[in-house]
Amino acid sequence: MITYPLSSRNGRESFGPGGLVLTMAYVVTESCIKCKYTDCVDVCPVDCFREGPNMLVIDPEECIDCTLCVPECPVEAIFAEDDVPPAQRDWIPINAELSKAWKPIVERKPAPADADEWAKVKEKKQLLER
Ligand code: SF4
Ligand code: F3S
Repeated sequence: MITYPLSSRNGRESFGPGGLVLTMAYVVTESCIKCKYTDCVDVCPVDCFREGPNMLVIDPEECIDCTLCVPECPVEAIFAEDDVPPAQRDWIPINAELSKAWKPIVERKPAPADADEWAKVKEKKQLLER
C-alpha cells in the first residue's frame, strides 16, 4: 500500500492517517491462459484470485497491492496495474469483469498437463474461456 499526498489516476482511494491512501490492483495477463500454474494463489494473503476454465484473474476490489504473487508466477503473467505492458492493457478491465463472475480459488492445484507447452506460446488471448 502506498500513501500519496494528492489524488491519483488509477487505483482505489481512501483517506488514512497519513493522507490519501491508494491501493492499486495487480492484474493477471495473457500468459496465464492454459498455464494456470496457481503458484500465485498460495501466497495471496487476501484470497483475491478467481478461477476461470483456463486462467485466473485478480479481483481488483480485494487486492491489497502486496506484490507477493508477482515473483511466484512461472510465466510472469502478473503486473501492477500501472506496469501492465501496452499490448496487455485490455486485461485490466477483463480482470475486473471476470472476477465478478468467477469463483475464488484459495489453494494451489496441479497445473494442466500441457501447461509447460502453453507457457511458450505468447499469443493466446483468443483461447480465453469465460
Ligand atoms: Fe494477492 Fe498481493 Fe497478488 Fe494482490 S498483489 S493478488 S493481494 S498476492
Ligand atoms: Fe496463472 Fe501464473 Fe497464477 S500462470 S495461475 S498467474 S502462477
